[in-house]
Amino acid sequence: MSKDVYKAVVDFIEKWLYDGEDWDTVIKSVIQARKLFSSMIKVREDEVALIPNTSTGLIAVASSIDWRKESNIVVAEHNFPTNFNVFSSLLRNGLIKEIRIAKYRNGRIPLEEYEKLIDEETQLVSVDYVGWLTGYREDLQTIAKIAHEKGALVLSDIFHAAGVFPIDLRSLDVDIAVCGSYKWLLAPSGAAFLYVKRELLDTVLTNCWTGWIGVTDSVVERMIRGESRLFDRPLPLLDSEPANTASRYEWGSWAGPTVIGLTESLRFFQKIDLDSSWRRILSLTDQLIKELTERDFKIFSPIDRNKRSGIVSLFINDPYDVAEKLSREKIIVSARPNILRISIDFYNNEEDVDKISQTLIDVKEKSPKKT
Ligand SMILES: Cc1ncc(COP(=O)(O)O)c(C=O)c1O
Repeated sequence: MSKDVYKAVVDFIEKWLYDGEDWDTVIKSVIQARKLFSSMIKVREDEVALIPNTSTGLIAVASSIDWRKESNIVVAEHNFPTNFNVFSSLLRNGLIKEIRIAKYRNGRIPLEEYEKLIDEETQLVSVDYVGWLTGYREDLQTIAKIAHEKGALVLSDIFHAAGVFPIDLRSLDVDIAVCGSYKWLLAPSGAAFLYVKRELLDTVLTNCWTGWIGVTDSVVERMIRGESRLFDRPLPLLDSEPANTASRYEWGSWAGPTVIGLTESLRFFQKIDLDSSWRRILSLTDQLIKELTERDFKIFSPIDRNKRSGIVSLFINDPYDVAEKLSREKIIVSARPNILRISIDFYNNEEDVDKISQTLIDVKEKSPKKT
């Protein structure tokens, strides 16, 4: 978290303590967050909704599609579990026939795997842009082409991609995307974005559930239209219509402090050049991979720069023990089953990378099992 984000959240809470919650500022912040994120991923503002978490976004979309009983969903093996959990619910409820898994082998998911699995009965292809364990960056554009040729929609979780490298979601031709606030967007937890391609709102995703924030003439729409007294007129009741923008998935109120922090972080991203921060991440991950492979560590993440992200994972024994030893040196990494996941961001430097490698080497040399 940047100091600007910390300050924005603390100021908001302090004002709340003395003056009451500044709700209008939260609504303005929601509108601003949608705008800043849509510009970050190069889509239209009305294609982005601000929701509580990525899983909610997946469920919102899954409950909007008119599923065919004979259909299948193709899911990449490297996806975060919540994908599998949501689609399993569809299967359990008899709404789809099958879930097909595109397998990760020898450091990648071959495109032929998608060609083989996607057919005329495929309704959705779900591929995380960057694998949460592998750090593997997918070729979304080619996958979207394969999927669209068979009439399937493409959904991507871009949680480990947004904020790391420049993204142009329109040109990748992804139909639906989700992205949480609390990883590479460097913001507090409790918020996520849902992107839905404009055309789909009137065609494929018509079957939607919504709440008081997701209707036309909601308080947010009133604010956008310049009305200052948001509750001056009655809110729509049975005559309500789902918004004809992605905001139809914004069902209820937001976590105010999170939204304030997220918007501040997105403002910060506006000031940095993602092209150059991405070059820096690549060069630091190059350095880390080189230093670790020279000392015989086995890297799980792609070595190939075209497939890489900010994540470098390595195979390791006792990842929790190792992560704890690193944390004593103020190095924060994630222990996952049989791997250690190291996330390198633009705020890191060469000394940080040296310190990680050296500490890992020391831990390995002292380990009886030889990590
Ligand atoms: C790629 C990815 N998607 C989704 C999630 C979980 O998202 P949420 O808790 O916002 O539903 C995670 C959490 O680690 C993740 O890595």
